[in-house]
Amino acid sequence: MAIKQARGALKTARCLCALPMCAAYTSSMSDACPPLPSPAALAALRISYERAELDEASAPAAPMALFGQWLAEAIAAQVPEPNAMTLATVGADLRPSTRVVLIKGIDARGIVWYTNYDSRKGRELVANPYAALQFHWVELERVVRIEGRVSRISDSESDAYYASRPLDSRIGAWASPQSEVIPGRGVLVANAVKYGAKFLLQPPRPPHWGGYRLEPDNWQFWQGRKSRLHDRLLYTQQADALWLRQRLAP
Ligand SMILES: Cc1cc2nc3c(=O)[nH]c(=O)nc-3n(C[C@H](O)[C@H](O)[C@H](O)COP(=O)(O)O)c2cc1C
Repeated sequence: MAIKQARGALKTARCLCALPMCAAYTSSMSDACPPLPSPAALAALRISYERAELDEASAPAAPMALFGQWLAEAIAAQVPEPNAMTLATVGADLRPSTRVVLIKGIDARGIVWYTNYDSRKGRELVANPYAALQFHWVELERVVRIEGRVSRISDSESDAYYASRPLDSRIGAWASPQSEVIPGRGVLVANAVKYGAKFLLQPPRPPHWGGYRLEPDNWQFWQGRKSRLHDRLLYTQQADALWLRQRLAP
């Protein structure tokens, strides 16, 4: 309903987007002409970031400490899905791809998430085990970027996490051939019924499902500041395992 109303409101305005398909558009938006925000509307979307500062003199020597502090602050601030991060991978075709996953573990070894090993990201990580993660805590005007090498976690770690998931999530891991084209939603529902009946309350962890750990060798912390003079700190791992801390221009 809200979408219908918004679309109706847009129909009253001239479409200012630069797409050729919209060039002739005046007041009669058709389904062929998507309700795109005009460049002027997009240009007007700007805020000044003034919530906090990030100073290299007082930042922790170890990036994991700063990340732990920022993640805890995001959780305490009750931002939506503070554990959601964008995962970027690059497969054999050299085309980057991104998706959102949830951080489910963090310790000195790195950052853990769970997924389907046969998915697009899984296939790309086989071809190229390097990845990048990005957290964007909008309300805190903060971004963390993390790069490093990725490896599968142990079967026992994956088993333990899988066993902690709600039953429908455990069945869902069986039901979804993640990243595959399927003829319709019915496939998922039918698979869930099938595997639910097969495994009842005790589904084993699917062999194609488990965790990955990214071992960070490069971290960037971004804190929005006034007048676009943002604070950025880069931590790079040195040969002696100590972290070099440098400020980057925003
Ligand atoms: C907030 C959020 C959290 C998600 N968490 C996960 C996750 O932890 N693991 C996962 O495999 N997919 C997760 N997804 C779905 C992925 O974004 C993505 O659709 C899926 O992993 C397939 O990606 P791929 O085809 O690039 O491999 C999440 C999506 C959203 C929006």
